[in-house]
Amino acid sequence: MSARILVAYATRSGSTAEIAQVIGREMVSAGHAVDVTEIKKVSTLTGYAAIVIGGPLYMGSVDGAVRKFVEKNHELLLKLPVAAFVVGLAPKNPDPGAVEAAMAALKKSLGPVTPVSSILFAGKLDPAMVNFVMRKFLEMAKIPAGDFRDWDAITTWAQELPERMKL
Ligand SMILES: Cc1cc2nc3c(=O)[nH]c(=O)nc-3n(C[C@H](O)[C@H](O)[C@H](O)COP(=O)(O)O)c2cc1C
Repeated sequence: MSARILVAYATRSGSTAEIAQVIGREMVSAGHAVDVTEIKKVSTLTGYAAIVIGGPLYMGSVDGAVRKFVEKNHELLLKLPVAAFVVGLAPKNPDPGAVEAAMAALKKSLGPVTPVSSILFAGKLDPAMVNFVMRKFLEMAKIPAGDFRDWDAITTWAQELPERMKL
C-alpha cells in the first residue's frame, strides 16, 4: 500500500543530501509518495506515515540539527516508524571501534526514538574544502579524503525500508 514518507536530512557539504535524495527516489520507485527535505526546513510531520532521518558526523557527533528535530518532534516520532542513517568516514577509519562510536553517536542524537532500522554509510570528504586546522584534526582522527559513498548499499537499505516500516 502507498504511504507518504518524509526523508529529513542534515548536511553541511551536500553529500548526505545526495544520499537522502537517492533513498527518496528508491522509495518512490516502490510506489510511495516521498518528500526529501532538509531537516531544518521541515515545518510539520502531519500526514506522514513514516520518517527517515539522516545526518553527517562532525567531530564525533551527528550534526546538531538532527537532535533539535528529534527534541521538537519526539512525541510524534515515538508513534511513527522511524529509520535513521548516519554518514561519515568512520567506515574508512582503521581503528577498531570507529564504526561502533559512529552508531553510538547516531543513537545519542535520536534520544528516546528507537529506529526500526539504523545504518552507517561511508560519506565524502573533499580535502580542498578543509582548512589547515581541520586538516590536522582529520589526520589525527584518521579520516581520509575521497568519495566513499556506496550507492548499492544505500539503495539496498532504501529498498528494505518499506517492509521494515510496515508500510
Ligand atoms: C571537519 C570534519 C570533521 C569530521 N568528523 C568526522 C567524524 O568525527 N567522524 C566521521 O566518521 N566522519 C567525520 N567527517 C566526515 C564527514 O562526516 C563526511 O565528510 C560526510 O560525508 C559529510 O557530510 P555532508 O557532506 O552531508 O556534510 C568529518 C569531516 C569534516 C570536514
